[in-house]
Amino acid sequence: MNFYKRLWYLSLLLVLFLVANGEDPYRFYTWNVTYGDIYPLGIKQQGILINGQFPGPQIESVTNDNLIISVFNSLNEPFLISWNGVQQRRNSWQDGVYGTNCPIPAGKNFTYVLQVKDQIGSYFYFPSLAFHKAAGGYGAFKINSRPLIPVPFPPPAADFSILAGDWYNRNHTDLKAILDSGSDLPFPDGLIINGHGSNAYTFTVDQGKTYRFRISNVGLKTSINFRIQGHKMQLVEVEGIHTLQNSYDSIDLHLGQSYSVLVTADQPPQDYYMVVSTRFTSQVLTATSILHYSNSARTVSGPPPAGLTTQIDWSLEQARSLRRNLTASGPRPNPQGSYHYGLINTTRTIRLENSAPIINGKQRFAVNSVSFIPADTPLKLADYFKIQGVFSLGSIPDSPSGGGGYLQTSVMAADFRGYVEIVFENPEDSLQSWHIDGHHFFVVGMDGGQWSAASRSNYNLIDTISRCTVQVYPNSWTAVYMPLDNVGIWNVRSEDWGRQYLGQQFYLRVYSSANSWRDEYPLPSNALLCGRAVGH
Ligand SMILES: *[C@@H]1O[C@H](CO)[C@@H](O)[C@H](O)[C@H]1NC(C)=O
Ligand SMILES: *[C@@H]1O[C@H](CO)[C@@H](O)[C@H](O)[C@H]1NC(C)=O
Ligand SMILES: *[C@@H]1O[C@H](CO)[C@@H](O)[C@H](O)[C@H]1NC(C)=O
Ligand SMILES: *[C@@H]1O[C@H](CO)[C@@H](O)[C@H](O)[C@H]1NC(C)=O
Ligand SMILES: *[C@@H]1O[C@H](CO)[C@@H](O)[C@H](O)[C@H]1NC(C)=O
Repeated sequence: MNFYKRLWYLSLLLVLFLVANGEDPYRFYTWNVTYGDIYPLGIKQQGILINGQFPGPQIESVTNDNLIISVFNSLNEPFLISWNGVQQRRNSWQDGVYGTNCPIPAGKNFTYVLQVKDQIGSYFYFPSLAFHKAAGGYGAFKINSRPLIPVPFPPPAADFSILAGDWYNRNHTDLKAILDSGSDLPFPDGLIINGHGSNAYTFTVDQGKTYRFRISNVGLKTSINFRIQGHKMQLVEVEGIHTLQNSYDSIDLHLGQSYSVLVTADQPPQDYYMVVSTRFTSQVLTATSILHYSNSARTVSGPPPAGLTTQIDWSLEQARSLRRNLTASGPRPNPQGSYHYGLINTTRTIRLENSAPIINGKQRFAVNSVSFIPADTPLKLADYFKIQGVFSLGSIPDSPSGGGGYLQTSVMAADFRGYVEIVFENPEDSLQSWHIDGHHFFVVGMDGGQWSAASRSNYNLIDTISRCTVQVYPNSWTAVYMPLDNVGIWNVRSEDWGRQYLGQQFYLRVYSSANSWRDEYPLPSNALLCGRAVGH
């Protein structure tokens, strides 16, 4: 072979090598969803298990992995799983909520195909239909950085997930019946940590080493405060953002939120309480786990350290202290702060006000007076097959209307590549927690009172975090900037599960007229069809 031919072969080999490596890795999961006995608060209950476990198996992935998750529904009722905070670029087909997917019928299976594209962070999955979340069926979902991307802290000695939240002794069908009859959820019976009540769960650490704890509030009704007796927590990540590594004695987690902290086992060798307690509730529920030093000389004794209960100002200050580390990398090697979210002009302002109207004599919950009701066909399928009469765009206003509540299958239209300001306005006495599927948003401001255009002068346009779930304090507002960078139909919902169930949610249709695979994947070949989509 002459020199040029050799060179040609060498470059061909190089191209083949690059193509082969350009294929992102696949991870396969097979999940069998069943009912089984669980005893979270010491009382036997019928829980939802995944492969016999509650919480379900942890998903441990790396940025850009393709996840193939085959879910076999062995319950006697329809079932779906959704992915809290996992963005699913161009792929709302896999979001697993009522508006995007047909339920997996009892005894049948469905395979989710999702890619954790350009994302890192700590999240969780949960069952989205019929109040199943009250029966468990949730689990941790981690997306780690790719090996060559620097992470702004040394590798921890171990990485623990903590799924904590409130729990009811009544089962999910009884709770659903309470809601269907027109009442809000009752106060929970207790708190649990990784499926267990107090002191039933132990995290073992070696003295002198540093550990990562990823904590999510997977509860249905209450905010929680998390703390570890005698130890400081160094915050390192909030829903995929590497933060300034502030040190905290305790952290508030509102419904649906996730945080990562580093904890160094730097205290005398004994056992310590890890505590969660409810926030902003007149009755305070508490649950504890054990931080056990492997060379521990003493078990825990006495009462666990008391936490904050009602102080809203403290919580607001803590929320404002969450800042992005502008020089740390995110899912890509470039620093996260290179995206100048504060310099981009917004294209639209959406103001969303929560309310609790009585409609037809029953308690409902609403956004801009609209209380969401499902239609007979998932909205994404109705949109795709152009089935008329399932929903109409513009069925929820952009601003509070001030009128009484009404029922509607509410869908808001939005343009792909828009950059919206969303202001969550909470005129009620209770704290709200809002989640948007498929997107992450920059939390630019929160304060007490009524939001006005003048509130913008105090926005943090430099180094706030972006996340997927944000709280709104009582009689307060929270403002976010959100790039509409993901075509699809996405659920916007209260993370208070009774409010969500009774209508405090809607769908955002992010639309591109290009109709291109670059913007949105086509209907998956295995998509289940139901309602009026059957036969299409
Ligand atoms: C799921 O688990 C149930 C109960 O153990 C079992 O009867 C069933 O065969 C399992 N299904 C699959 C698909 O593994
Ligand atoms: C259901 O499981 C069977 C057996 O593993 C598989 O052949 C089939 O493709 C699955 N169906 C879906 C919709 O994933
Ligand atoms: C921010 O990230 C950089 C780069 O990884 C790191 O060196 C620095 O310590 C971090 N700063 C803070 C305050 O967390
Ligand atoms: C829930 O509990 C009620 C009794 O309070 C019982 O009738 C019902 O079958 C239970 N449902 C499930 C799914 O376990
Ligand atoms: C934003 O809008 C202002 C005023 O309309 C304009 O001067 C500025 O150039 C715009 N900035 C960008 C980045 O488009």
